[in-house]
Amino acid sequence: MAMSNFLSISLFVAFLFLNHGIEASHVIYPEFQSLAATTVQQTHRTGFHFQPPKHWINDPNGPMYYNGIYHLFYQYNPKGAVWGNIVWAHSVSKDMVNWQALEPAIYPSKPFDIKGCWSGSATILPGNMPVILYTGIDSEERQLQNYAIPKNLSDPYLREWIKPDNNPLVFPNGVNATSFRDPTTAWWANDGYWRILIGSRRKHRGIAYLYKSRDFLKWTKAKHPIHSKGKTGNWECPDFFPVSLSGANGLDTSYDGPDKKYVLKVSLDVTRYDYYTIGSYLKNKDIYVPDSTSVDGWGGLRYDYGNFYASKTFFDAGKGRRILWGWANESDSAEDDIAKGWAGIQTIPRSLWLDPSGKQLLQWPIREIETLRGKNTQMSNKVLKTGETVEVQGITAAQADVEVTFSFPNLDKAETFDPSWVDAQKLCGQKGSTVKGGVGPFGLLTLASEKLEEYTPVFFRVFKAPDKHVVLMCSDATSSSLKTKGLYKPSFAGFVDVNLADNKLSLRSLIDHSVVESFGAGGKTCITSRVYPTLAVSNNAHLFAFNNGTETVTIDKLTAWSMNKPQMNEGLK
Ligand code: FRU
Repeated sequence: MAMSNFLSISLFVAFLFLNHGIEASHVIYPEFQSLAATTVQQTHRTGFHFQPPKHWINDPNGPMYYNGIYHLFYQYNPKGAVWGNIVWAHSVSKDMVNWQALEPAIYPSKPFDIKGCWSGSATILPGNMPVILYTGIDSEERQLQNYAIPKNLSDPYLREWIKPDNNPLVFPNGVNATSFRDPTTAWWANDGYWRILIGSRRKHRGIAYLYKSRDFLKWTKAKHPIHSKGKTGNWECPDFFPVSLSGANGLDTSYDGPDKKYVLKVSLDVTRYDYYTIGSYLKNKDIYVPDSTSVDGWGGLRYDYGNFYASKTFFDAGKGRRILWGWANESDSAEDDIAKGWAGIQTIPRSLWLDPSGKQLLQWPIREIETLRGKNTQMSNKVLKTGETVEVQGITAAQADVEVTFSFPNLDKAETFDPSWVDAQKLCGQKGSTVKGGVGPFGLLTLASEKLEEYTPVFFRVFKAPDKHVVLMCSDATSSSLKTKGLYKPSFAGFVDVNLADNKLSLRSLIDHSVVESFGAGGKTCITSRVYPTLAVSNNAHLFAFNNGTETVTIDKLTAWSMNKPQMNEGLK
């Protein structure tokens, strides 16, 4: 469990308090939310991650692929760099790398959304008709589920969206009206009903309510929620979809053929992580049952063990894959964000599919991102003795993509694993990159200053348990910046369920000025860190590989690329 119950409940109460009683997980600063940015500070802005030219963003909304175009909507404050005045901003792309910003698609304009247009999803109905479901906040702060449709289907970018008069589609009847939001993409079953999930809670029990409809307009709450779990707090942004039992291909959300499992993801307001389970969907009973191998709750699997929240997937019918978008919030203070003039990025879109073990998902940055790879440098068969560090030179280390495979002769020197170490982040806090080990710590020092006054290490450490080896992966922001005030510098970490029979571990990191997005063991464990170096910026940023284990480690192969800048939302007013 990530935190004690006591801490969680205190945090829960604190959220309510900080939000002036309005139950959303975002801290509200009434005095700053309409304070337009006068400058946009460039130092920590990302080069190839999705962000608008200025102001605050949070959750990705309604991602979809429609007639050859990728759409990404997202929660956006057009007036300031903190949460507030939320609209659905809208961008379009042909490759999910280069983006063009359009006017906001949905903004408060009707009684059923006058106090906010919150998160939701897109569904493409038969006849190739896209429809958005989103949560509107009415004048009584109630959360209602609404729909919007394109005004003009022949506009290739679907610039304008209308909200028909028969909104809202779903009132918060018999549920907690201030915790009832974020409708999923709908799926259709051959009993003739569409289904959606809506995130909620009853006291501290997290709930995904199921609603059914024959015509997409009249929705009825099912007898039981599709799933719920005690002591997990409010469930935000649920996501529910099938995954194929074999291969990396994605499945349409309504897929009803053989050889599939289901994934239920929930964003836990209290811990601010996205958790998922893998399980079965019992269609006749309309319930979801996680597999016995999938821990349900705070001890469960996360899409990402770092700064990654309110994510959403969609089926990319063009390339037959399922894509995951997630929001990486800032780790600095609201004051810093106001000074920067911007806050929040979306992580690089990831393909996601079921690991052959059937016990977890795998994630990998979409192939298209490789079109940004420029100049590269390589290393092979480079031996790193204990305490050795080697610089990876010749690329722009502040804006780079690095892939590396490390090998070690055997695991004899692995440290003994204490079974009480259930919390990876705590363990990484104790056993940081400079704490000598047996097999590891070894990995990369990203966004490092020349003399290592600042660095964000991404690394592995292998332990020996009675019947297996335990691999810890860390992305540790503790030494990421000389600045101390207002920065959150966690030792993010997760365990990696990987077979070490070949004595190898691989790592990929996408480094982009203030974000390091890492994929361990081919995407088994992913960690995103937001960091704000003061020295390791722009051309003064360096990249190193290191080994602080007593066992020698070899860089079998390392390739690092400078990353070019794509077109990123120029044109937003
Ligand atoms: C998650 C969330 C959603 C809500 C939206 C409001 O970050 O709180 O539950 O719809 O953000 O912006």
